[in-house]
Amino acid sequence: MHAAIAQRHGRALRYPADVSPFMALPSQPDGDDWRNLAQLVRGGDVTFFAPPEHIPRHWEKVLELDGMQMVDTGVGPADEEGIVALGPDDVPEMLDLAARTKPGPFLPGTIRLGTYLGIREEGALVAMAGERFRFPGGTEISAVCTSAERRGHGLAARLIRVLSARIREGGDLPFLHVVAANRGAIRLYEALGFATRTDTTVVGLRYRGPTLPSPL
Ligand SMILES: CC(C)(COP(=O)(O)OP(=O)(O)OC[C@H]1O[C@@H](n2cnc3c(N)ncnc32)[C@H](O)[C@@H]1OP(=O)(O)O)[C@@H](O)C(=O)NCCC(=O)NCCS
Repeated sequence: MHAAIAQRHGRALRYPADVSPFMALPSQPDGDDWRNLAQLVRGGDVTFFAPPEHIPRHWEKVLELDGMQMVDTGVGPADEEGIVALGPDDVPEMLDLAARTKPGPFLPGTIRLGTYLGIREEGALVAMAGERFRFPGGTEISAVCTSAERRGHGLAARLIRVLSARIREGGDLPFLHVVAANRGAIRLYEALGFATRTDTTVVGLRYRGPTLPSPL
């Protein structure tokens, strides 16, 4: 679904570095695939949602985060009142909110991946959530965050209900990923009507091999 955004070298795929740190390889990658990926990332780190079983020579694991994928099993009705669409002009404020709240990777170009919605109070962005991964039949809700001093007032819940309703109206199943240690967020998602579908592991790798020419 993000084929127009993806950068590709052979069978290795990545989002542009300013959009998302995630990459993809075939489920059984061969040596060429790994070399192509090393060329695509040019020494930068690689992040996988479905980590390959075998990590080859020249690659070092630098991150491993356990979590879960949750799916909408009946999120309740949405109220669009007070919810604003966020666009490119809002990105500096979104980056600031994400830097303060750490909902997961949010980069200057992440907004290209889908709809992003926010709640403003006295002009200031205090909460946001948006869409990230997509595949036929599914759209992920991501970058869910509320400024620390405004938590516990249902702002994230309102944003998630609106996003979920819009995604379902578009014919997709809303889903999301959460780190297992984030008990508060998991409680909120369960209260809203999300249920765990599967456990997930995010793995980050760093290429430590010889320098390869960039294919881009
Ligand atoms: C997780 C996070 C987004 C929740 O934001 P929030 O706006 O505080 O969420 P809500 O207010 O909708 O819900 C949080 C709690 O407040 C409760 N609440 C909802 N409406 C309320 C209201 N009107 N008054 C008081 N409490 C309320 C909810 O029931 C929930 O309670 P619980 O913790 O017992 O489940 C926020 O803590 C955050 O930004 N965390 C850091 C980033 C992060 O981890 N994001 C998730 C990544 S997967």
